[in-house]
Amino acid sequence: MRVVLVGPPGAGKGTQARVLQSTFGIPQISTGDLLREAVREGTPLGKQARIYMDKGELVPDSLVTSLLAERMEKADCEKGFLLDGFPRTIVQADAIDAELGRRHQQLDAVISIVVTRQELVERLSGRWVCRSCQAMYHERFTPSKRSGVCDACSGELYQRSDDTAETVNARLEVYERSTAPLLSYYRDRTLLYDIDGMGAPEAIAQRISMTLKSLSPHTAA
Ligand code: AP5
Ligand code: MG
Repeated sequence: MRVVLVGPPGAGKGTQARVLQSTFGIPQISTGDLLREAVREGTPLGKQARIYMDKGELVPDSLVTSLLAERMEKADCEKGFLLDGFPRTIVQADAIDAELGRRHQQLDAVISIVVTRQELVERLSGRWVCRSCQAMYHERFTPSKRSGVCDACSGELYQRSDDTAETVNARLEVYERSTAPLLSYYRDRTLLYDIDGMGAPEAIAQRISMTLKSLSPHTAA
């Protein structure tokens, strides 16, 4: 099954992808995580990407699509994947179609996670992420048992540098301008499923799982 998770910053794409990857046995591919890894490693791509990410802008399409194409070559993508944060522009949507077309494959569903703006800002301002396993916490909604320490692997928790109020606003504007047009693009192709992203993460995961399981059997993982 090949699924895209789309939604504004803080909608819960990463949180949901981590749950769904074990439900459906397909990997989460987060371009945000891949880019942050490249930044951490100081690769040439990471150095370029950082300039955009720090400002809350999109990294140029050519850089992100080549990163994604490379990741899709790995064996764990054979049965499918959950794309988290890609595509984010129409150019990227066309690129994934071309990439899949080369393999005689196609997308099965695009899940749009819908959350109010007030909730997005609240979620991002309280987010903590594990440096080792990338598990996600929220200081108020889903806190770790010990402050600053990951429940899953005891790794150190940190706050993303693009979660400052100023950069969050820039990211939300970029979403409206560049990514929201994808919703009608996929709706027109009858691939889009709107999911209420408010409430407990488990309830949202249940809504998404039910939607994906209701797709025709040939798309099941
Ligand atoms: P990326 O890492 O993809 O960030 P984003 O889209 O801004 O989304 P976030 O990761 O901030 O939010 P999320 O929806 O994953 O929410 P999460 O689950 O963490 O991209 C970062 C940057 O990389 C971009 O700005 C851009 O520069 C670049 N980039 C990446 N992909 C690109 C692309 N394709 N093209 C160009 N540039 C690209 O949840 C947020 C918080 O809320 C957490 O604390 C979580 O615990 C909490 N939470 C989640 N669900 C709930 C719930 N139901 N109730 C209460 N709290 C919840
Ligand atoms: Mg994310």
